Amino acid sequence: MEKITTIKIREMKDSGEKIVMLATYDYLTAKMVDEAGADAVLVGDSLANVVLGHRDTLSVGMEEMLHHTKAVATGVKRALVVGDMPFMSYQASTEDAIRNAGRFLKEGHAEAVKVEGGRKMIRKIEAIIDSGVPVMGHLGLTPQWVHQFGGYRVRGKTWSAARAILEDAKRLEQAGVFSLVLEAMPWQLAKLITEKLEIPTIGIGAGPYCDGQVLVLHDLIGLTGPNLPKFVRRYAEVDKEIMKALESFKRDVKSGKFPTLAQSYEMPPEEMRKLIRGFRQKR
Ligand code: KIV
Repeated sequence: MEKITTIKIREMKDSGEKIVMLATYDYLTAKMVDEAGADAVLVGDSLANVVLGHRDTLSVGMEEMLHHTKAVATGVKRALVVGDMPFMSYQASTEDAIRNAGRFLKEGHAEAVKVEGGRKMIRKIEAIIDSGVPVMGHLGLTPQWVHQFGGYRVRGKTWSAARAILEDAKRLEQAGVFSLVLEAMPWQLAKLITEKLEIPTIGIGAGPYCDGQVLVLHDLIGLTGPNLPKFVRRYAEVDKEIMKALESFKRDVKSGKFPTLAQSYEMPPEEMRKLIRGFRQKR
C-alpha cells in the first residue's frame, strides 16, 4: 500500500492519474472512503452545514474542526488527510494562520491544510507553508466569503472575473500550494487554469477537465436531502435505506416483535433456580 503524500498528489498530474478526494468528518466513513481507494480525505468546514446543521460554514471553530480531523485521521491509512482551516482561523494575522495550521498537524494528525482565497490570503498562505505545513488552495465559490459574494453563486462567469481567478491561481502556485480546489466556476475557466498550472486542480462544480474531483460524501451517498447543487451526482440513496430501517424498528418495538430471545442474554438454568429459591427463602 503506497501512502499518499502531497508529493504524490502533485505527481498524479504529471502521470495523468485523476485525483479522487472526498469530504467527510468521522472515523467510520473516513475508514470506508480510505478503503474504497480515495487519494485524499478532506475534513471540510462543510462539517458546519452537513453534520452540525448550521446555515453556513462561518460558525464552525478550530476545536470542532480538530475534534473531527482527529477522528478522520484515525480511520485513514492510505489517503492524504487534509484539514480545512475554518473562518477566522487564518484571516486576522499570520501568527494565527501559522499557529492554527500547525494545530491541524500536531493535534488533528492531518498532513496538510486547505485555505480559501487568492491574492488577499497570499501572505498568510506563504507563512503557513514556510512553517512546514503543506497548503491546498481553494478558489471560485469559496463559501467563507458568502456574504461578500452575496450568496452561493457560480464565480468567474465574465471574462474579467475569470481573469482575476486565473491570476489568483497563478499567485497561489507561486506561493507554493501543492494543489488547488476549484469550486463552482465555468468548466472553460477551470480547464484553462488546469492547463496553465503545474500543480493539480481538484474540481467541485468546475467541470470534467480538472486533474481531480471532490464531493462531500454525504451528498454522493444520498444523506443530504433532495435539494442538491447541480454538480452533485448521487451514487446511492442511503437516506431511504435508513428511513426504512427506522420505520421497521419502530413497528417492531411497538408491536413487541423486537427484541426476541435471539437478541437477549440468557442466565444458566441452575443460576436461575438458585435465584428463585433464594428469593422464596427471603420471604
Ligand atoms: O468544506 C468542504 O467540504 C469543501 C469542499 C467541498 C471543497 O471545502
